[in-house]
Amino acid sequence: MKQKKDKLCWCGSGEPYKKCHWLFDQRLEAYRKDGYVIPTHKMIKNQKDIDGIKAAAVINNGLLDLVENNIKAGMSTEEIDDMCAKFLEEHDAHSADFHYEGYPKRICTAVNDVICHGIPRKDVILKDGDIINVDVTTEYKGYYADASRMFMIGEVSDNARKLVEVTKECLEEAIKIIVPWETRVSDFGKVIERIAHKNGFSVVEEYCGHGVGFKMHEDPYILHYDEHIDRELIVPGMVFTIEPMINEGKKGIRFKPGDTWTSYTVDGKLSAQWEHTIVINYDESVEIVSA
Ligand code: MF3
Ligand code: CO
Ligand code: CO
Repeated sequence: MKQKKDKLCWCGSGEPYKKCHWLFDQRLEAYRKDGYVIPTHKMIKNQKDIDGIKAAAVINNGLLDLVENNIKAGMSTEEIDDMCAKFLEEHDAHSADFHYEGYPKRICTAVNDVICHGIPRKDVILKDGDIINVDVTTEYKGYYADASRMFMIGEVSDNARKLVEVTKECLEEAIKIIVPWETRVSDFGKVIERIAHKNGFSVVEEYCGHGVGFKMHEDPYILHYDEHIDRELIVPGMVFTIEPMINEGKKGIRFKPGDTWTSYTVDGKLSAQWEHTIVINYDESVEIVSA
């Protein structure tokens, strides 16, 4: 904010500040004075960074397409992971999940009552009627994109299908409300909670969406429930995920002995999740770049 106008911009563009984010900062400052919580400069990417993130997103989407085209009953979750490892290698890209805080695999595979961070295993074999979330974060040339999809294996129950569809609706409706310079990151939780509750489902509160781009997880964190406070204003240059986890039954999570990653529903009922990476472009368009 205090940067001199003749200096290079803080965004790393190499442009003079006055020609780059100076006006942008003036506008932010006006909102701050008006009582808004404004994003920090660390939460703002320049155009070159956005382009880099979009390139990572293309590979991330290609990976999820590959999974979508091949996933079937009889396959182990480890086989899906192997397929992804090969794809990433072929594309000169890496899984950000791999070795993240000791995480042992490239992707997360959450089957039925697994909420998230299910570790791919040889002995988890997909069967008719299962629902599974596959989540991956691709790193390509130093930039990150993060997304997950649900897959329904064969014929699934009406309940399972409804949960998968309502969870997707929660994410899509949250994205639809985004108006740059107007919406706050704390507005999403209100939308997600309303839709989940209307359908008799609950929202998992232990995990959240997040800024993404230079790393897998950055500020701001984005809650999927109503925190009853106003948080950061959404402005161009922000890149973040929304990734609601919705439970068929009770909210809350539990772990099983010997595995501190995989989180399960407390009542053994189903859980679903969808995740997109969203870019707020400088022309103020809202773009889902990874899905
Ligand atoms: N992709 C996850 C997310 O949506 C994080 C993966 S955790 C890891 O934020 F341990 F698998 F890396
Ligand atoms: Co994420
Ligand atoms: Co993810």
